Amino acid sequence: TPAQIGVTGLAVMGRNLARNFARNGYAVALHNRTPARTRELVEEFGHEGTFAPTESAEDFVAALERPRRLVIMVKAGDPTDAVIREFAPLLEQGDVIIDGGNAHFADTRRRERELREQGIHFVGTGISGGEEGALHGPSIMPGGSAESYESLGPMLESIAAKAADGAPCVTHVGPDGAGHFVKMVHNGIEYADMQLIGEAYQLLRDVGGYPPDEIAGIFRAWNTGRLDSYLIEITAEVLSHVDSATGRPFVDVVADQAEQKGTGRWTVQLALELGVPVSGIAEAVFTRSLSGHTALRRASQDLDGPKPQALGPGEAATFADRVEQALYASKIVSYTQGFHEIAAGSAEYDWNVDLGAVAAIWRGGCIIRAAFLDRIRAAYDAQPDLPSLLADDEFAAEIAEAQDDWRAVLVTATEQGVPTPGFAAALAYYDALRAERLPAALTQGQRDYFGAHTYHRTDAEGTFHTLWAGDRTEVQS
Ligand code: 6PG
Repeated sequence: TPAQIGVTGLAVMGRNLARNFARNGYAVALHNRTPARTRELVEEFGHEGTFAPTESAEDFVAALERPRRLVIMVKAGDPTDAVIREFAPLLEQGDVIIDGGNAHFADTRRRERELREQGIHFVGTGISGGEEGALHGPSIMPGGSAESYESLGPMLESIAAKAADGAPCVTHVGPDGAGHFVKMVHNGIEYADMQLIGEAYQLLRDVGGYPPDEIAGIFRAWNTGRLDSYLIEITAEVLSHVDSATGRPFVDVVADQAEQKGTGRWTVQLALELGVPVSGIAEAVFTRSLSGHTALRRASQDLDGPKPQALGPGEAATFADRVEQALYASKIVSYTQGFHEIAAGSAEYDWNVDLGAVAAIWRGGCIIRAAFLDRIRAAYDAQPDLPSLLADDEFAAEIAEAQDDWRAVLVTATEQGVPTPGFAAALAYYDALRAERLPAALTQGQRDYFGAHTYHRTDAEGTFHTLWAGDRTEVQS
């Protein structure tokens, strides 16, 4: 019997995805550039389902039922194009290529357009959840044509994670690059979440005076409340881990230089192009970069400033509660910014992305899965044209309640010299949105002064310029 789906590229993500399809009853054709990997998969996991191992591109394509569905799981960038070039000539009208890598959505748009000319559907698909997710149920963010989703959807639904209410964590996000765009923003939010958690940890350590294993306990407690999420859960795991070589906390023996593969940076690059303020995500990306500038950091070690003083045990517990408030409020802001970027991308590229559906498929399987995503889903479902998550009454009320503590934590952090760019950017965003007047008016005045860039008035229609070098009368332009 022909295979219902094929996977080419059997590194760990591809292998686990193939096994997930097989475990869900699909016959899976397998292909890898080096056939040894294909053989290994079948030897080790062949008993899990029906696999059709193949060695050549031709055999792989021939093993698939029509219309063919083949999943590419190779490195994003040139390797993806190389695989497409290899397979496209062997395919026919109506066949579907699914790219499950972390591709840039602009590449996905280009590939989709090129393949559409041949009558081939190209479905750029975000897949989140790492190795475990790929095997047991990832969150899946497919783009591409609605037509391709008709045949693909049920298969993806069966291998996807299930949210607490049983709904599969997959939806047709939108045409062409919409899926990869949404995955990109997912990763940007992931960076922001991780940065905020890092700041909370640093404050608990330096100001709270807690050792890592006690901080792990605090995160475990937080994880039973509104912060309930995968990233908080694994934070506790990492913080309680002890390095076997030295007996010291693992977090103290790891080099403090955070790396990045690019999706967070793309999120910020796109936000700059779309004019969307994603300051929290940007701070997260910049903070990773800063951490890697070892020479700069070494040269700056003697700069003057306060050294954090740990609080006494009584005050520390209150401070920890405040940090929870600051973390939660900042987290709401970073999701607000991320969803704004998705809405802006959707408008720019005409994708018609359903923000509630995006929140819904992030409730399970993905790295940023969190209990509060169900509330984001509910907010957008109730009001699909919600201009901002902060415009939702419930989230607004929560921030209102958290904000005294949020501000107090930032005051302490500033006084004690603990860097908290994520918390601070989130609060600045919140206060800027609240402000009745922004200094942007002054900026416009300066621009008009030095460059005759003109301005609008609050009390009249039209475009104006002041003759700064002359008698300073105002002219309409
Ligand atoms: C996921 C992750 C996944 C990967 C990131 C890590 O959703 O499963 O986001 O895509 O772990 O690429 O990104 P950095 O290496 O840039 O931190």
